[in-house]
Amino acid sequence: MKKTAVAPSNIAFIKYWGKADDVLRLPLNSSLSMNLSNTSTVTTIEFSSAYKKDDISLLDGTFSSHEIARVILGLNRIRKRADVRLRARVMTKNTFPKGTGAAASASGFAALTVAGFAALGLTLSEKELTIFARMGSGSACRSIPDGYVFWEKGNSSDTSFAYSLYPHTYWNLYDVLVIVDDGMKKISSTKGQEAVHTSPLLEKRLSGIPEKINRTKKAFQEKNFPLLGEIIEDDCLSMHHVMQTQTPPLFYWNEATKKIIKKVRMWRYEGIHVYFTIDAGPNVHLICEKPFVDAIKKKLADVEEVKNIIVNTSTPGAHLIDEHLF
Ligand code: PMV
Repeated sequence: MKKTAVAPSNIAFIKYWGKADDVLRLPLNSSLSMNLSNTSTVTTIEFSSAYKKDDISLLDGTFSSHEIARVILGLNRIRKRADVRLRARVMTKNTFPKGTGAAASASGFAALTVAGFAALGLTLSEKELTIFARMGSGSACRSIPDGYVFWEKGNSSDTSFAYSLYPHTYWNLYDVLVIVDDGMKKISSTKGQEAVHTSPLLEKRLSGIPEKINRTKKAFQEKNFPLLGEIIEDDCLSMHHVMQTQTPPLFYWNEATKKIIKKVRMWRYEGIHVYFTIDAGPNVHLICEKPFVDAIKKKLADVEEVKNIIVNTSTPGAHLIDEHLF
């Protein structure tokens, strides 16, 4: 009855921003991402009649009451599917600071889903696991399949799921995550997305997504890095333009974010093949192929605003491990 799962976070190359259904977390558009090897979450779950209530804890930190309530809702969905009433002890550990835009909710709900069903002895298909993870946090569904993942937006809970487009071994891409702010996210992505319909740019963004997805798939097929990089930056800016034109406007960037964006362009002129993308926070993900990782790290060493660097490769999705947290 005790199981532990590890799940990677993921970075979207084609982002999701905005939901068609807030409760089921059905997205307004399909998205495509890469799992990240060094920003992951480990979760141990034990269901037992000895527990009178759910006990949720974070090793080396504390969850807010809102976060605990969200985890309990996730447990309730798992219990309902398994048709049990047992309470659970849940312990979680992140390998990265939360609220940094390194999407702890994605890795967190992916790990919770995989460990939770296993702890109740239920074997679900990968597709169904992604559906349950999605209901905890949209992007969590992309942290379950291997490597490079596509989340089909669908039009119902059963048709909105994620699957692996290519295994993590297919292409040796790197994500150099640049931490310029290690504090908590000011406005969560769940909250931020509620006002997405107030942006006059939303419709234009959504109408361009299918074509962008086709071009991304082509870039993957050909392993055409400059083409992929251009799409990554274009889609990141398109999502942030929507955020910035919502009412009230959402500005996740700070001065250091903008400085790095400018530097990335300069570095490209100097021959370093690197492109940026940014989630709902100020930190910057630098996407490159292996030969450029060292040059990028060297460049970042000279940028005083950089607090930390986490180098990620692509990696398998959420899976069970033998070492428990309690
Ligand atoms: O998974 P959520 O609901 O926290 O939203 C995440 C949204 C972005 O990270 C900003 C974009 C994405 O597709 O990951």
